[in-house]
Amino acid sequence: MKLVVNADIKKGKINRNIYGHFSEHLGRCIYGGIWVGEDSPIPNIDGIRKDVLEALKELNIPVLRWPGGCFADEYHWKDGVGPKENRKKMINTHWGGVVENNHFGTHEFLRLCELLGCEPYICVNVGSGTVQEASEWIEYMTFDGESPMANWRRANGRENPWKVKYIGVGNESWGCGGNMRPEYYADEYRRYQTYIRNYGDNRIYRIACGPNADDYNWTEVLMRNAHWHMNGLSLHYYTIPHNWHHKGSATIFDEKEYFITLKKTMYMDELITKHSTIMDKYDPAKRVGLIVDEWGTWYDVEPGTNPGFLYQQNTLRDALVAAINFAIFHKHCDRVQMANIAQTVNVLQAVILTEGAEMVLTPTYHVFNMFKVHQDADYIELNYDSPKYKMDNEEIPQVVATASTKDGVLHISLCNLDPHNDIDVNVELRGNQYKEVSGTILTAPAINSYNSFENKNVVAPQNFDGAKLTNDGLVISLPAKSVVTVALK
Ligand code: AHR
Repeated sequence: MKLVVNADIKKGKINRNIYGHFSEHLGRCIYGGIWVGEDSPIPNIDGIRKDVLEALKELNIPVLRWPGGCFADEYHWKDGVGPKENRKKMINTHWGGVVENNHFGTHEFLRLCELLGCEPYICVNVGSGTVQEASEWIEYMTFDGESPMANWRRANGRENPWKVKYIGVGNESWGCGGNMRPEYYADEYRRYQTYIRNYGDNRIYRIACGPNADDYNWTEVLMRNAHWHMNGLSLHYYTIPHNWHHKGSATIFDEKEYFITLKKTMYMDELITKHSTIMDKYDPAKRVGLIVDEWGTWYDVEPGTNPGFLYQQNTLRDALVAAINFAIFHKHCDRVQMANIAQTVNVLQAVILTEGAEMVLTPTYHVFNMFKVHQDADYIELNYDSPKYKMDNEEIPQVVATASTKDGVLHISLCNLDPHNDIDVNVELRGNQYKEVSGTILTAPAINSYNSFENKNVVAPQNFDGAKLTNDGLVISLPAKSVVTVALK
């Protein structure tokens, strides 16, 4: 296969926030996965487990979305500040009906973001909350002067305000966030965002609840009625191999199901293209970002686990799903300004799984690590026509590739989706000369190989020596079912 790189033609910046995360009060994402409490025997910093923190820091996480998800529209932030022993308990009705003790609240979340060096992205409660509650939350976190909320923050141990840039106004307001019609939500959005104030030099990037997958009417109505009041509009799309009633197993699947999963992942490209086209009508300058703040695979939960906890394993297939999504986000980097995988730890397409004091890095984690070089890099368009990977009467490209350049280094990431056939990619390098090539590869014995607590490195990145500079460019020998990133200097 031939691939042409025009290394001197930059097509826009890949916003680092495309590599963002999402952690909800759901199952063992926050409790157990991130937060163990100050008194836990599991090593922690201010209650946040150290092993997970270190692993996440390695990924240069740019932004973290919290507290949900569906949980956000039931969350009352005032219950989660002040002395922990006084914090109100609540029922997490969406996710397993378990008791939420509110020990992980605003201070703990913002401390986590400080430790990670990432931007917080907070979703306020529209479904069951009030404008006053949302407005006071912003005042509590970001106001520097004398005010009831700022004084309360100080009394709770935090003198200086935090910087909080990203605020989401409700989550899935078309569903778990209130079952609203777009016309109604657009008005609610306009009202809420009015009282989400900029205090001092804290400038808020306001994100409206966007469509569920292919609900183009939602985008149309929101953009028509409120685009000038928003900085971003969200989009949620999950890769589900079968359907909501029978999603499919995370680890037990055949090649047909593998193929369907990858094909359904590629649908993200069509969704973004069509929603962007609607947005272009109202916002041709692309001022409003499309914020894909929930994406990833959604399978049946692991047998024997709480169905409300959405705990699933993660295989080489998930690694390919992540790589495909990143390539799509790069391609749309003029419109997609943030994306947040669902979810960071122990939920859905997690990058980390934990069990007690043990931690496992999933194949998806390794793709985040291999792709972090693209954060804030200039997107380089590639020209290639991939052979097809065929299954029954359907086909998808065998190779998906994406590239960017930063600080004089060109990075090309590729995946070979075909589980049986290797492929040579002959790269013609235009616009720049390179003297050195190095690379990393992620592959595994089988499409459903995964990392377990007993065997943590079945799917782990290795040095890749299959890329060779030639007189004409570069040849990359891409093994079957693999993800590769090469760096050219
Ligand atoms: O990520 C799990 C759930 O999926 C979120 O809470 C909700 O927003 C979506 O339906």
